[in-house]
Amino acid sequence: MIAAIIAAAGSGERFGAAIPKALIQLGDRTLLEHAVAAISAVADQIVVTAPAGYEEQIKKLVGDDVSVVTGGATRSESVRAGLAAINNADFVLVHDAARALASVELAKRVVASLHNGAVAVVPVLPVVDTLQEVSADGKVLAAIDRTPLRRVQTPQGFTYSLLQEVHQGAQEATDDSTLALNAGHDVATVVGEERALKITTPSDLATALTFLGSAATFSTGVGVDAHAFAEGRQLWLAGLHWPEEVGVAGHSDGDVAAHAICDALFAATGLGDLGSNFGTSRPEYAGASGVTLLQETLAAITQGGYEISHVSVQIIGNRPRIGARRAEAIATISAALGGADVAILATTTDGLGLTGEGKGIAAIASALVIKR
Ligand code: CTP
Ligand code: MG
Repeated sequence: MIAAIIAAAGSGERFGAAIPKALIQLGDRTLLEHAVAAISAVADQIVVTAPAGYEEQIKKLVGDDVSVVTGGATRSESVRAGLAAINNADFVLVHDAARALASVELAKRVVASLHNGAVAVVPVLPVVDTLQEVSADGKVLAAIDRTPLRRVQTPQGFTYSLLQEVHQGAQEATDDSTLALNAGHDVATVVGEERALKITTPSDLATALTFLGSAATFSTGVGVDAHAFAEGRQLWLAGLHWPEEVGVAGHSDGDVAAHAICDALFAATGLGDLGSNFGTSRPEYAGASGVTLLQETLAAITQGGYEISHVSVQIIGNRPRIGARRAEAIATISAALGGADVAILATTTDGLGLTGEGKGIAAIASALVIKR
């Protein structure tokens, strides 16, 4: 049975926010929720130490499976308050909410080391900077060999009996492994990780965001469409009706710009293409407007977990002239795509090809999508 204490009772003075540091938002959740999510993968029981006055708010955040106790004036006191709420365990992990992005894998390494017989375990990383001792008035006194030095992180792991023993008195230290060491116990190490950085200042939060950002993947897609002019049809292009112009033949409204964008989005997301999603086998889309197909495509890719970063389309043909209605077209397509960033360009082809000969209109689109 593994229990865990997540120290979250600090005020976050160095961070300088109006709320306790553990309640600061990082991406889609608070620092504390990130820490609880990782630790819950390895612990059977979790106790969170809350700043006085925030117990109820934190209970709502972490849910009924996590106990919440009021923390103390120092980190060590908070850990003692957490320990008092644990009745029985083989091992206890002690973690800081401030190390919000410590991974499940790191927690597993700590637990594995305990299972292998360690009584106290810390994650550590090498020191990369040169280290010097400096006097109070700013003068360098001595160089320090960094080779044997390590930066110590959490989650740290202990046998239940060892952690109880070292917290028997009112010992103080910035972490629990130091208490274990001071009491004469062996402390083992496992390899730490940069993403388990302790978020102390707003710039640390920015660094943490880059670790979250790397979880997002970008992909691109290209789509092409062309239709021949057909007398007696209305022209729909880039989501707009062009009343002065001859329309084009097609299963739907023949909006080549909208169709090329749909295909670019399907290409970027690997979700088929225009034909497989809205083709002749789906008679309900016969005559569907370009805007409807864009909306349906957005729904499909959203369902697939994708967000649009940007789409761009180039319309190829002698007419209509796009320039005067470009802003209107961009606004229409962007609205159909849930407010996505859209660019619309147009070109002729120097009299060459079906578009240059005035036989029809074509469009080429590209899309950049994000999967988080
Ligand atoms: N902590 C705690 N009880 C305290 C002080 C700190 O539970 N009395 C927790 C913090 O919430 C944090 C972890 O211990 O998750 C590490 O402390 P630190 O990063 O120093 O956080 P704060 O004490 O909140 O920040 P500061 O020192 O800038 O005020
Ligand atoms: Mg502190």
